[in-house]
Amino acid sequence: MIDGSPLVPHIWFNQSVHFRKGSIMVLKTLQASRVLVVAYPGAADNEAYRKVIGNLEGRTVQEETCKTATQGEVLRMREKYEHSPPDLILGIGGGQVMDSAKMLRVLLENPGKSFANILEGPLAQRSIAYVAVPTTPSTGSEANGTAVIKGSDGVKVPYVTRLMVPDVAILDPSFLSTFSSDQIFTFMGDTFGHAYETMVSKLTNPLIQSIARSIIDLLKLASAELRQTPADARGLDKLMQAGYLGGLATGSVFVGVCHALAHSLEQQKGVAHSSAVLSLTPRCLSWHAETTKDPIYSHLLSEFESIGLQSRVSPDVLAGVDLLLLARQALADPAMKTSPIRMKEQEMMGLINWILKK
Ligand SMILES: [Fe+2]
Repeated sequence: MIDGSPLVPHIWFNQSVHFRKGSIMVLKTLQASRVLVVAYPGAADNEAYRKVIGNLEGRTVQEETCKTATQGEVLRMREKYEHSPPDLILGIGGGQVMDSAKMLRVLLENPGKSFANILEGPLAQRSIAYVAVPTTPSTGSEANGTAVIKGSDGVKVPYVTRLMVPDVAILDPSFLSTFSSDQIFTFMGDTFGHAYETMVSKLTNPLIQSIARSIIDLLKLASAELRQTPADARGLDKLMQAGYLGGLATGSVFVGVCHALAHSLEQQKGVAHSSAVLSLTPRCLSWHAETTKDPIYSHLLSEFESIGLQSRVSPDVLAGVDLLLLARQALADPAMKTSPIRMKEQEMMGLINWILKK
């Protein structure tokens, strides 16, 4: 199989995607006898999680919890399971859990590899199946071959290979019922950020742009339904599907400066990823509109407002931030490789000052 170059347009697909409320019941049909479940701490308190475990009846099930996507966490699990690997790994959680489980699968399949050389030379073909069950709607990890893992220096590194694409993704909105309306709309902000940044990525193409437009259409419908009835099942379902498409698009053409800034804010202030992207998106859009005069940015800004996200933007997202460090970290972020505008420190500081004024 062709693994491909990240710079040649491509989309890697799962073998199957299951969606709608109750879709976790497909786990009953899994062809695996030894299952390793990697979930977020506290997952056992969630009714939907307990249903997942119930659907695995008759199999040998081992459960691990994983709080953050760090090299240390992944290596801890690898050491524990390298002598008796499972047939199947089931990652249940947000992006950090699903990314850790993705990386764990590849490291278990390739005993000679480490984080330092995981993407150098060929990887063994799949011997362990991986099923991803997102419990948050915006990460998109379930849809792509990217795993973002934090090193011991605190820097997040994206690892990208077709062999990390989950075999199966299950998009069951039952997991979203425990989130507040504010949290749900914050996830929408990150998903919108994926649509916007893939629409204008340096690598974008008509196929990805059509996916990005579909994400925005789904978000509009989900927002209308969720504003009328919070936790509306149809609205949550559409949000899960928008998040999935966001994962397909970002896994193919990656993101840009808005995510680069968000990654630095996460590192500096511990701001949640989706909150940072939500608050940076309209300011990045208006700066791009002003700088490039390309009407796409004004159009995207009006779409952002029509989804009802503008009122949820934090006015002081950069409060207490070391601005020069923010600029330098953002410029060094891998997301800048696909930013539509080439930026140096002067342009990045210009954008940061624009964000401060807005
Ligand atoms: Fe994001």
